[in-house]
This record gives sequence, structure tokens and C-alpha cells, in this order.
Amino acid sequence: MIEEAARLLGRCSRLVVFTGSGVSAESGLATFRGAGGLWEGYPVEDVATPEAFARDPLLVWRFYAMRREKAKSAQPNPAHLAIARMQALFGSFCVVTQNVDGLHQRAGSRPVLELHGSLWTVRCTGCGASRVDEQVPLPELPPRCPVCGGMERPGVVWFGEALPEAVWREAEKLCQAVDGMVVVGTSGVVWPAAGLVELAAASGAVVVEVNPEPSALAHLARVHIPMKAGQALPALEAALRKKADAGC
Ligand code: OAD
Repeated sequence: MIEEAARLLGRCSRLVVFTGSGVSAESGLATFRGAGGLWEGYPVEDVATPEAFARDPLLVWRFYAMRREKAKSAQPNPAHLAIARMQALFGSFCVVTQNVDGLHQRAGSRPVLELHGSLWTVRCTGCGASRVDEQVPLPELPPRCPVCGGMERPGVVWFGEALPEAVWREAEKLCQAVDGMVVVGTSGVVWPAAGLVELAAASGAVVVEVNPEPSALAHLARVHIPMKAGQALPALEAALRKKADAGC
């Protein structure tokens, strides 16, 4: 499967790696769905909607403070690192992620399009100013805007909210133009993000999926690699590098 994926992707010059929480699972960060998933312990409607924040901002902030703490102490795993190394093998390369943990950037990937925002940005609910704040723990919950003193909210996308417009436009443009896409560690059930894989496939890109379980997007994949990301991505990167070195 790895060899077949490398054979197909080795012909590509424009690649997007599209990731979900499964790529960070081996860094010790929980995925969302299924047994032990984040949404099991913390119902979405309590912690990840604008209504939840309006009702109880402190409860929502405690959830994100906990996620910031876990993400801060997590390290990029072999999958993040292999994805960062793969970049050199393609003329055009971009990571498009649903993750908010920043681990792709810490592994060295550039650029990274964060469809669902970031744990490390906060935004004022009053004046709308956005800033990066990587302090763990935050000195005050909820944090206050240094510009106007208003209450700040996590810089993530909640259910019922639109994706950041410029990021979305850029992602759509890229996914229409790629000739290869590697889909890693996502159930593929959250839209519009999942639609990017459909867009790439409909535009003629070869789609390779890395996931121990076939996702809702598996029917779009030419190759499904039923392995953990931390094993599959280093093997895929090595196979692609071997082909590139051999000039084929
Ligand atoms: P899910 O929890 O829906 O899916 C995680 C996927 O990762 C599953 O398909 C697992 O089989 C797979 N997986 C688990 N361990 C893996 C590993 N070691 N290697 C590879 N794959 C593995 O999480 P997402 O698809 O990321 O959105 O969820 C998408 C969005 O839904 C998230 O961005 C978040 C969530 O609600 C918002 O918060 C807006």
C-alpha cells in the first residue's frame, strides 16, 4: 500500500496534506469522536458553540485552557515530522488542517492553513482584535483584551460558525489545483472542511488516505493505508524520497 501510494504521489508536483485529530493522537492528544473522544467527556453543545460561550464563558474557557495545557506539553510525533520533511519533495506543498494544536508548525511545516483556527490565538468579543497568546496557564480566565478591556474568546471555530474566510478561500483554491492529496487521521464528517477532499478528487487529484479505519471519505481514495499516522507517514516519506533520489 505504501509503495502504491508512493508510486501515484511520486508523479505529483502539487500536494496537499489534509489532516485531522488522528495525526496528533500519537502525540497524546485525544481525537473527538468515538469512545474516549473529547466530545464524549465534554458535550459539544456545552463547550464548542457560540451559545455555550454566551451562557457560560468560564466553563468554555476552562475546556480550552485544558486543551492548551495538553497541547503545550505534547510534542510533534513522527507523522508531523515526516509531513514536514515531505515538503521538499514537491514543487507546491501545503498542509491544510482541521487541528488547532499547532503541532504541524512546531514540526516545521510551512505553510499550514488552519481551517478551524488555533488554540494559540484569542479574539476580543468587544473590538474584534485578535492576538497570539501562548501562555499556559493564562494569567486570567476569561482573558481580557489589551486594547479595549473586553472579554476575549478562543480563536477557534465553533459549531455553527463560519470558517475564517481568507483561509477557506485559499484552501479551496489550492485543493482545486493539486494533483495529489494525502488525507490523514480524520473521520471526514465535519463540513465544509471535508468538502475539500471531494473538491480535490473531483479536480482529478490522486487521494491517498492514512487512517487505521476507513473514513467517510474513503470512497474518494485511490489507496487506503490502514495504519497509524506515526508509522505510515515516515514510511511514505521514505518511499517518496527513494523515488525522487532515483529520478523516477
Ligand atoms: P474525529 O475524532 O472525528 O476523527 C479522528 C480520526 O482519526 C478517526 O477517523 C480515527 O480512525 C483516526 N485516527 C485515530 N488515531 C489515529 C492515528 N494514530 N493515525 C491516523 N488516524 C488515526 O476527528 P476529526 O476528523 O479531526 O472541529 O474531527 C474533525 C473536526 O470535528 C475537528 O476539527 C473538530 C471536531 O468537532 C471543530 O471543533 C470545529
